[in-house]
Formats: sequence, structure tokens, C-alpha cells
Amino acid sequence: MIDANNYQLYGAFGDRYDLHTPAHHYQHDHQFLIQRIQAIGGLGRVLDVGCGTGVFLEKALAAGLDPIGLDPAPAMLQLASQKVGKSRVRLGYMQDLDDQKAFNAITALSWSLNYCRDYEELCTVLTRCKEALHSGGGLFLQVAHAPHAAKQAPDFFMDYEVGPGGPQDIVLKYRFWAADNQTMMAEYNFECISMADSFSEVHVLKVADAILVARAAEEAGFIDLEILEDYGGGPLEKTINPFIVGRV
Ligand SMILES: C[S@@+](CC[C@H](N)C(=O)[O-])C[C@H]1O[C@@H](n2cnc3c(N)ncnc32)[C@H](O)[C@@H]1O
Repeated sequence: MIDANNYQLYGAFGDRYDLHTPAHHYQHDHQFLIQRIQAIGGLGRVLDVGCGTGVFLEKALAAGLDPIGLDPAPAMLQLASQKVGKSRVRLGYMQDLDDQKAFNAITALSWSLNYCRDYEELCTVLTRCKEALHSGGGLFLQVAHAPHAAKQAPDFFMDYEVGPGGPQDIVLKYRFWAADNQTMMAEYNFECISMADSFSEVHVLKVADAILVARAAEEAGFIDLEILEDYGGGPLEKTINPFIVGRV
């Protein structure tokens, strides 16, 4: 199993995550998901697998849903519990999920699922997700899609954010490329100028092919699977960051 805490982004520097990636970055994705989950009905009980700092949990709770987050990185969960309370976060690995018919929807956003080691491990996780859902429950994944990524490391994107030292105190440089058709590389360079701290690391994202992930979901027993380009709901076209939706 890949241990998320070995990545500085979630481990040693996890407490800075909301500084470089604030919640508003994902607002359209979150709105889209909340509407789809509300349409399922039931008690609105949602499990967010790899919830990170709880940006989706917070919005789901505000929308009247009943969310719980699961993540193995204590630094990330600490920020999540500040947003939604300790009772809504669980420390653990998706590989160990063992709830039975407990949720109306499961989400795994921003490539959390791509920390599975290989296709077999992904199938196991998706089977556990299926068992954790009530009949009629929904699955909402956002996965890395290497077939649409650059074949070599491109130039960095740069995000500047407000930090403790003021505007543009935080700089996040990032870039993504395909090592092969199922492996996405993600490089992150973080710098906080006022605190004089920084790190740089490359993440290896496995099973980074939405068609393969949808096949694994089908093998696990999910039905009505669709691969969507983005929150607009159109079919997969050219993105490296599609949604996969399905139901039990
Ligand atoms: C890019 S972050 C995304 C966080 C959140 N879903 C979001 O949208 O902001 C990926 C998250 O996956 C978590 N993760 C990595 N391996 C995991 C595993 N085996 N089980 C559950 N979560 C894992 C990391 O700790 C991290 O919080």
C-alpha cells in the first residue's frame, strides 16, 4: 500500500494544504456533486474517501447532507475536523473500508483513488465501496486520466495565494505528465516566503485511466457508469481530470 503520509504534501506539510489549495478552487465541482447526491434522496449520508482537509465535507454539510470523511493523513484530517467537527472524520485507508450498507453516496475527489497501488487494489477498494452503499446509492469519482496528459514534463503552472506574510506569500508550482498510459506523474513545488519553508516532490498516480477505473467499478458491481469531462456533465473529451459516476 502507498502511505500518503510519506508524501510531504499530506504528511510533513499537510497543515499548509489549505494555504496553497483553498476551497474555492473546487466550488463548481462541489456544487455539481452536491446536486447529484441530493437527487439520490435517502438520508444524504455521504462518505468522502480521501477527504483531505475536508473542503467537500464542509460544503456538503452546509447543503444539508450528512457527510463523513476518511483519510490516512493526520495533518489533513486535523484541518478537516476544524471545519466539520471530529465526529465527521475518520483516520484510515480506503483499502480497509468495511462499512456495510451505511451510505447513500461515496465520493473520492481530486485523484484520491489514484493512490491505489495497482488495478487489483483499486478493484478491492471499489468492491468495498459498493458494499458500503445502500441499494440505489451513488458513486462519484474524480480521477487522473494519463491518456490525455502531456507525454513529457511540461512547464509549471503557478498559483499565488495569500499567506501569513500577506498577498502572494504562498507559491504553488505544479505540473502533470504521463509516464505511460496508466501512470500520471504530478510534481508539486510549495513555497511560503514569509515562513521560509518549501518542499518539492513528485507523486506517482496509478491506474490513471478513467476507462480502466470505470471497468473496475463495473467489475465491482456498479451500474449506469458514465465518464464525464467535468462538472458540465458532457462526455469525456480531452481532460486529464474527469468524473466517473455510477450507482449500485
Ligand atoms: C489530492 S488530495 C485530495 C483531497 C480531497 N479529496 C480534496 O478534493 O481536496 C488526495 C488525498 O488522498 C488521500 N489518500 C492517499 N492515500 C489514501 C488511502 N490509501 N486511503 C484514503 N485516502 C488516501 C491523501 O491523504 C490526500 O488527503
